[in-house]
Amino acid sequence: MAGKDDPERLVSAARAEDENSFELKLRPRRLQEFIGQQKAKEQLAIALEAAKSRGEALDHVLLFGPPGLGKTTLASIIANELDVGFQQTSGPALQIQGDLTAILTNLRERQVLFLDEIHRVQPVLEEKLYTALEDYKLDIIIGQGPAARTHVMDIKPFTFVAATTRPGLLSSPLRSRFGILLRLEFYTDDDLRFIVERSAEVMHVPIDEDGAAEIAMRSRGTPRIANRLLRRVRDFAQVRGSGKIDRDTAEQALKLLEVDAHGFDELDRRLLMTIIEKYDGGPVGLNTLAATLAEEEDALEEVYEPFLIQIGFLDRTPRGRVATRLAYEHFGLPLPRKQNSVLF
Ligand SMILES: Nc1ncnc2c1ncn2[C@@H]1O[C@H](COP(=O)(O)OP(=O)(O)OP(=O)(O)O)[C@@H](O)[C@H]1O
Ligand SMILES: [Mg+2]
Repeated sequence: MAGKDDPERLVSAARAEDENSFELKLRPRRLQEFIGQQKAKEQLAIALEAAKSRGEALDHVLLFGPPGLGKTTLASIIANELDVGFQQTSGPALQIQGDLTAILTNLRERQVLFLDEIHRVQPVLEEKLYTALEDYKLDIIIGQGPAARTHVMDIKPFTFVAATTRPGLLSSPLRSRFGILLRLEFYTDDDLRFIVERSAEVMHVPIDEDGAAEIAMRSRGTPRIANRLLRRVRDFAQVRGSGKIDRDTAEQALKLLEVDAHGFDELDRRLLMTIIEKYDGGPVGLNTLAATLAEEEDALEEVYEPFLIQIGFLDRTPRGRVATRLAYEHFGLPLPRKQNSVLF
């Protein structure tokens, strides 16, 4: 079964191996280089400035939003801006209590600890985090059986930065430990064009404004996808063209990659067409839909649906997923009767 972790897919959350180093190279290091997300950026800039002038650790930060919008990037920018150390781990990587204890007790004053995929932290570890985040204290148990004693250990004041694509899965006590909540939104086409131009410059790929705009438009509001498309268009331009990316080259390359005007890939189309053709436009439950498509529910919910909802092609209703009028129009299909009269 294919899922969100298939790196060959354009819209997948996972990275192909060579993409990791590529992403690292393209990752902005300073807040000023971070394009778009005005609201989150402003909130963060103020908090950073205040923490720096007080000489204190920055409040804990929760970054949330769909994959590829810059959560990990912002986490490392926070450490750079504060000029402190950066350590990274993730929910699935933290398996035993001892690992978390070791990480927390080794923290340096004011440094950033970044925890990716916090919604996947095990409940026992989550509880350990509570006191660490609130009072910079850690309960550790020494010895075993009847002789076991609890010992409270101080840890250095630090900044906890956590990221998640699923904020709804966090318990409220955990969520309440964060002083700064930053929601990342899909990027505008203009922001994405800047990102493409900046990435092209870093990669030494000649590109004109129209070429960058064409890639931006089809990137599903997501910088990671914009950079992915740029790489593939660059290859095409080198092999079939002069090496320079203009609108024409970009269009031809994207056509070859089967990325349409909305940046839909094969699964987007299949998802919408399944709702329309098999389920008469919906509503259809997520589990039924996932089974019909032979995809994981998580992949649909985290990676595919947010963008389709954002551009108004899909609706989540209490009874299930529904294809909207725009989706029918996109595929040039007539609306079923029920939608004409009731829903839209
Ligand atoms: N605002 C931005 N300006 C320029 N480039 C960006 C921006 N945001 C993200 N990028 C680029 O997109 C890539 C993906 O970003 P990042 O890894 O931070 O996303 P993420 O939200 O952590 O994704 P995931 O949820 O999959 O972990 C980065 O390598 C970076 O080059
Ligand atoms: Mg990330």
